[in-house]
Amino acid sequence: MANFFVSKTFTALSDLYPNMANLKIIGIVIGKTDVKGFPDRKNIGSERYTFSFTVRDSPTHFVNVTSWGKEDYIKLLSDSFRVGECVIIENPLIQRKEIEKEEKFSPATPSNCKLLLSENHSTVKICSGYEVDAKLLSLIHLPVKESRDYYSLGDIVANGHSLDGRIINVLAAVRSVGEPKYFTTSDRRKGQRCEVKLYDETESSFAMICWDNESILLAQSWMPRDTVIFASDVRINFDKFRNCMTATVISKTIITTNPDTPEANILLNFIRENKETNVLDYETDSYLKESINLNTIVDVYTVEQLKVKSVKNEGRADPFYGILYGYISTLNIDDETTKVVQNRCSSCGYVVNEASNTCKTCNKDSSELKSVLPSFNMLVDLTDHTGTLRSCSLAGGVAEETLGCTVNEFLTMTDEQKTALKWQFLLERSKIYLKLVLSHRARGGLRVTVLSCKLADPIEASANLSGQGRV
Ligand SMILES: *[C@@H]1O[C@H](CO)[C@@H](O)[C@H](O)[C@H]1NC(C)=O
Ligand SMILES: *[C@@H]1O[C@H](CO)[C@@H](O)[C@H](O)[C@H]1NC(C)=O
Ligand SMILES: *[C@@H]1O[C@H](CO)[C@@H](O)[C@H](O)[C@H]1NC(C)=O
Ligand SMILES: *[C@@H]1O[C@H](CO)[C@@H](O)[C@H](O)[C@H]1NC(C)=O
Repeated sequence: MANFFVSKTFTALSDLYPNMANLKIIGIVIGKTDVKGFPDRKNIGSERYTFSFTVRDSPTHFVNVTSWGKEDYIKLLSDSFRVGECVIIENPLIQRKEIEKEEKFSPATPSNCKLLLSENHSTVKICSGYEVDAKLLSLIHLPVKESRDYYSLGDIVANGHSLDGRIINVLAAVRSVGEPKYFTTSDRRKGQRCEVKLYDETESSFAMICWDNESILLAQSWMPRDTVIFASDVRINFDKFRNCMTATVISKTIITTNPDTPEANILLNFIRENKETNVLDYETDSYLKESINLNTIVDVYTVEQLKVKSVKNEGRADPFYGILYGYISTLNIDDETTKVVQNRCSSCGYVVNEASNTCKTCNKDSSELKSVLPSFNMLVDLTDHTGTLRSCSLAGGVAEETLGCTVNEFLTMTDEQKTALKWQFLLERSKIYLKLVLSHRARGGLRVTVLSCKLADPIEASANLSGQGRV
């Protein structure tokens, strides 16, 4: 496999040996870590920076490359390329790797070498796609592990606690990619977190958590219900709080997007055949919403102001809240073609598989059968004198409160009764508490969740509106 398609200009990774000089290699970046800073022991008070990546030049060969240096150099270098791009590395230092120590934290690589980049001697050049052999580019779709060496999500759930803390490979489809959350830890370090929901033939929803910017960035490129991933060396944990198994992306993990393997193609066919066309499912998580004290929401907006605010907030992932004096302008509760009620697991709150009516998210023990509860899950349009917010989520208990009937009462209603119910709310001025999250995946770039919707006191409404000088 030496010289798989690496020309004379470059040394194949398979031919590397320690302390080799004047080296030039080409490869595709298949994994990358965030930049980290460490106190410099030689220069007290200053910091040294580092990041690592993994390059591959053939199906069987890839190496781990680590770069150290000053903050500016490391940040610039790290920002200059992404996973999936090709790089040419000149004059790296080649060292024998200490297998046990290294592979605890870094991807297990077949080569017995690792590369070090130094600011003074080595260079990294990015090459654009058309300069590169298509065979080299196609390596990005080849998992770094044997294509059959993975657990299905059902296997993980079935194994339960016995897999807690284990590092394994997973092949699964992407069900949804959450909004990245940014926070500061108690010791004032910056952190981020993004939750990806996976599924396959055996499980309808399984959480995978990313804690680093590089994997979060990669996850943002995945298409829900369209992308399949092979994640090698993810850590499995039992989440006591949610009572379910989860996966975590760690520094050893390498994720292959849309792997080109027979097993991945079978999964891809499954997801294409089972693509749910139901748009209502997109805010599954609103059922699990954190409880928000409505009294803390005091800012009143018009639809137009909300849209302007969302443009100004562009790039910010944290939600904002507001009150809208407006009315529900679309409410499809009496239309048979639109589903407004879905069954959810009484324990974890996820939508359950319709055919089997059991929750595959948390039912790992059949002795522990969880019951299933119907729950409202609908999209409504909200309008005021300045415009309309489309496809806002109205779900769960908030929907019951808004409609003034429980979901079970609703399910026993005739179509005429549903139409009558609808006209009690449609076009009636209401005071609506909203949560808004910017999302390029949502319609209009804004994901809106109704937190409360009650008929407005006309005096209060017009006072607030005139306060804005807009009646
Ligand atoms: C490469 O190895 C270093 C330790 O030697 C590790 O910190 C790093 O995470 C590894 N690289 C990748 C891409 O994981
Ligand atoms: C790199 O070069 C600079 C300037 O020539 C020098 O000050 C520095 O010590 C060198 N660093 C290393 C790690 O050799
Ligand atoms: C991750 O991204 C956030 C937001 O862009 C940034 O504030 C933070 O410094 C980044 N962290 C790392 C380790 O690169
Ligand atoms: C506007 O609405 C707030 C909160 O909903 C209410 O407390 C306040 O009295 C209203 N303002 C006026 C001027 O009526």
